[in-house]
Parts: sequence; structure tokens; C-alpha cells
Amino acid sequence: MATPKLQSGDRLVLATHNPGKVAEMRVLMDPYGVEAISAGDLGIPAAEETGTTFEENACIKARATADASGLPALSDDSGFCLAALDGSPGVYSARWAKNGEFSFAMDRVLREMEGKTDLTAWFVCVLAIAWPNGQEFTFRGEVWGDMVSPPRGKSGFGYDPIFQPSGHTMTFAEMSPAAKDAMSHRAYAFRAFANNYLRG
Ligand code: IMP
Repeated sequence: MATPKLQSGDRLVLATHNPGKVAEMRVLMDPYGVEAISAGDLGIPAAEETGTTFEENACIKARATADASGLPALSDDSGFCLAALDGSPGVYSARWAKNGEFSFAMDRVLREMEGKTDLTAWFVCVLAIAWPNGQEFTFRGEVWGDMVSPPRGKSGFGYDPIFQPSGHTMTFAEMSPAAKDAMSHRAYAFRAFANNYLRG
């Protein structure tokens, strides 16, 4: 089956209800002229994330949204991982927050990291594109660095205030959105997606 490509004027549904992700994905999509509509705007409910890997969950969300909308759907499954916690919170990053309140998640991370000396941390983003014709593809991006405490900065979302990428002195939440977009896990995954499925 020929690989479909999106071009300027095409419509794509962002299979996420996370406003932080929608904002970052729209900025990344902007240069291609593709109209990115969010699943929330179409009234498509969030799919249950029953997978145990980023890839599985990304595909579940993209497929559910493509089937519900009849349009190609791009999902993002991502998370914050700590070496000292064997990769947790990982795929459960969103669930460590209560009612979407990330101060709870960061407090839990800081509690569980008490006394640990290895602060190695990384973000993972897996983007999945699901086409109405049944095809699905995934793209993975990672960015490595350290967990910092106390949290610093007010930009971005989620765990950004406690993540400092290697070779930098600012957390993701202290950087401008453009600086984060230039090096983030989401940007790396997006570049791979764009090279394959977007016409510049
Ligand atoms: P999910 O992909 O919907 O399961 O949620 C992923 C969760 O990982 C988000 O709700 C955030 O807590 C966290 N996360 C993913 N990407 C980022 C990021 O770029 N910055 C901060 N936190 C992130």
C-alpha cells in the first residue's frame, strides 16, 4: 500500500486532550500548512490508555481518533523517566498527577527520589499517526538530562520544572518555548514524522 502524505490544506486531528501537547504540536505543524484540529474540539473522548508501552498507548489513541473522525490522527504518548526509579513514572506520568495537577506528580517524584544519588532523567515521546485506511506508524524521540530539585521555572507543562537537559543550565520550564521546541523529545519525534509524512 502506498504511504499516504499530508500536504498544505489537509486536515489532521491531534489525538490528545492535553493543552500543553496541543500547543507544542500546533507550533511544530505550523510550517507545513496542515490544519491541526484537536480531538477535544471535535468532541471525541479520550481513549483509555490500556497499553504498557509508549508505542502501544500512542497507537490506541491515534486509532480511536482516526476511526471516530474519519481523518488521519496524530497522537502523542509521552512521559518522564528516572533511572533511579527503573524508568518510572514513564508511561504512568499523567496518572501520577491528581486531576491534572502536576504539583502532586512532582511532589511524589521528589519524595520517591529522596536519598537517591543517580539523578539521570529523560523524557520520551512517541508519536503515532493512524490513517483511516488502517495504516499506523510510530516515531520515538528522547531527551536526556537530570532531575533537579527544587522545581524551577514557569513555562511549559507537566514535569518541565524538574528536568534539566544535559549541557544546559536551565530547566525546560525556564527556557522559552522555542528553546524547548528546538531540543525536546516531542520535537525529535516530530522531525521523524514530518520527514516521512509531511510535504514541506
Ligand atoms: P500521556 O502521554 O497522556 O500519558 O501523558 C504524558 C505525561 O507525561 C504528561 O501529562 C506530562 O505529565 C508528561 N510529559 C510528557 N511530555 C512532557 C513535556 O514535554 N514536559 C513535561 N511533562 C511532559
